[in-house]
Amino acid sequence: MVQTSAERVTVCYLNELKKSGQKITALTAYDFPTARILDECGVDIILVGDSLGMVVLGYENTLPVTMEEMIHHTRAVSRARKRAMVIGDMPYLSFHLSLQDSIRNAARFIKEGGADGVKLEGASPTRLQLVEALVEAEIPVMGHVGLTPQSVQKIGGFKVQGTDEEKAEAIFRGALALEKAGAFAVVLESIPAELAREITASLKIPTIGIGAGPDCDGQILVINDLLGLTSGYLPRFVKKYAELDRLISGAVTEYLNEVREGCYPEDQHCYHLKSEKSGLAKRVRQKVLGKRK
Ligand code: KIV
Repeated sequence: MVQTSAERVTVCYLNELKKSGQKITALTAYDFPTARILDECGVDIILVGDSLGMVVLGYENTLPVTMEEMIHHTRAVSRARKRAMVIGDMPYLSFHLSLQDSIRNAARFIKEGGADGVKLEGASPTRLQLVEALVEAEIPVMGHVGLTPQSVQKIGGFKVQGTDEEKAEAIFRGALALEKAGAFAVVLESIPAELAREITASLKIPTIGIGAGPDCDGQILVINDLLGLTSGYLPRFVKKYAELDRLISGAVTEYLNEVREGCYPEDQHCYHLKSEKSGLAKRVRQKVLGKRK
């Protein structure tokens, strides 16, 4: 079993992991109990992803997610973590309007959300300028290239990216430019494993893959997918490590049956009056309702 440090995960620690070849572990979380479990298990990075919109809030894609929703969930996650680095994902339109507005929104993840840094999608020239400005404002930034779900309308669905030379080159250049702009890590999503391997070997900062093969410096998955809590389509890269939906259905069905059959609650689940007070309930009834024939 790989040893993890007991101290709070920092950017320096992630760089050490990359240098030593030890894989970085990352998962999404959106609430206190899940974040507590992930942190206790020793995950290095907890991303409060805007996937929140799809897996928790029931939106069709991530575009409707608001800053208020992200901050609310980031606070819950931050309250639970002791060791992991917490990263808040900047939702659509929170970093598209002006530099000032974007810096203010990113800073809210730190000041109000208790996060250690932010993630943002894309590597366009304006995005790179923003990354520089955030780093200048002491906000650690994780980049994200490849499949960027906030561009779902532009790219026409959740498809693998970088399979032709032109797109592969753009992704490669984007990752390099994010490093140059000061990002401390970059997520590579849904790209060929061969491309991810070359990018990873060319960057000093860690790459965190999701659907990008085994040669990234770390891996991330959406926690609901890993636990078997996501209904419907799952991308090829998801591995279900549990079937929690079945476990939950089984427990809830048993509860419903037991309540309907009067088997729950049993005596062990009840509070009782001490014997010297055994007449109390009846007396109260008479007092409240009066004597009835
Ligand atoms: O929103 C999210 O959960 C993400 C990860 C899939 C990287 O961006």
